Amino acid sequence: AEAHQSVQALATSLCSLPPEFVRPEQEQPGATTFHGAAAPDAPVIDMSVPGSGARIAAAAREWGLFQVVNHGVPPAAVAELQRVGRAFFALPQAEKQRHAMDPASGKIEGYGTKLQRDLDGKKTWNDFFFHVVAPPAMVDHGIWPERPEGYREANEEYCRHMQRLTSDLFEHLSLGLGLDKGAMAEAFGGDDLVFLQKINFYPPCPQPELTLGVAPHTDMSTVTILVPNEVQGLQVFRDGHWYDAKYVPDALIVHIGDQIEIFSNGEYKAVLHRTTVNKEKTRMSWPVFVEPPGELVVGPHPKLVSDESPAKYKAKKYKDYQHCKINKLPM
Ligand code: SIN
Ligand code: FE2
Repeated sequence: AEAHQSVQALATSLCSLPPEFVRPEQEQPGATTFHGAAAPDAPVIDMSVPGSGARIAAAAREWGLFQVVNHGVPPAAVAELQRVGRAFFALPQAEKQRHAMDPASGKIEGYGTKLQRDLDGKKTWNDFFFHVVAPPAMVDHGIWPERPEGYREANEEYCRHMQRLTSDLFEHLSLGLGLDKGAMAEAFGGDDLVFLQKINFYPPCPQPELTLGVAPHTDMSTVTILVPNEVQGLQVFRDGHWYDAKYVPDALIVHIGDQIEIFSNGEYKAVLHRTTVNKEKTRMSWPVFVEPPGELVVGPHPKLVSDESPAKYKAKKYKDYQHCKINKLPM
């Protein structure tokens, strides 16, 4: 029965945090978040300004995470994506449950919850919806919510903007490595690039200082482009400290994922991040994971490997990389 619950349903009936959600002290946000005037902010980059491409490349080296404004994605497209996502999570539990994913059967798309324990035996304060949005041949509309009205249109439109923005980011990041501007697009599969839309739902939590919405991780993707709601929660690890990534209205947050770190032979850094939750408010976020097709082999670009700078990563099919990472196997 537990597996059919959700954090959202659990949250309505609690006044203290169940022990399986309590993180070890060295992971608790209450004990480990760096606050104060000295806390640096991840770069916020205005993409309409000349020179922004170089700033994007610098942020990918130094932080592995940055926010972009004037990114060309219309505010209405973002607002509509958020509207349909909020409306889905407002549906009755039984209706959401009809879309449940089933990791045991290998079905990773659909509605899910972190009430299932992680590999390390712990739980995180998070429900989600997850499905492929491109390329068309990989999309299974049977998994997408049929309600609310407009869900499909909103996600399809937002995806088109993500495809355009990704190609701009890949160009800037390729040039920043001294490569042709098309180098990353080509290395990651061109038109076969896979876009996955996730909706994260973090209900109010009775003791947010003790738990996490998402445990520390780097994304497996090339880039992840995320829009949050206005509730603070994303944190970034840098120089030994956890910092809040501040909420910037109308910004999109770009995470550098493992595949770009590998491709760049370590010049760009995949960002270690986690999320906190809130006592009164529901936090939501809408990350889009941009991934190579599973059969594609990703490794350091040959021009970035030399006798002085040997390959730091093994080349691997993306699906094998995923398998190793998900099951915590040696890379
Ligand atoms: C994640 O990294 O999976 C979630 C990030 C967020 O909700 O901001
Ligand atoms: Fe992430």
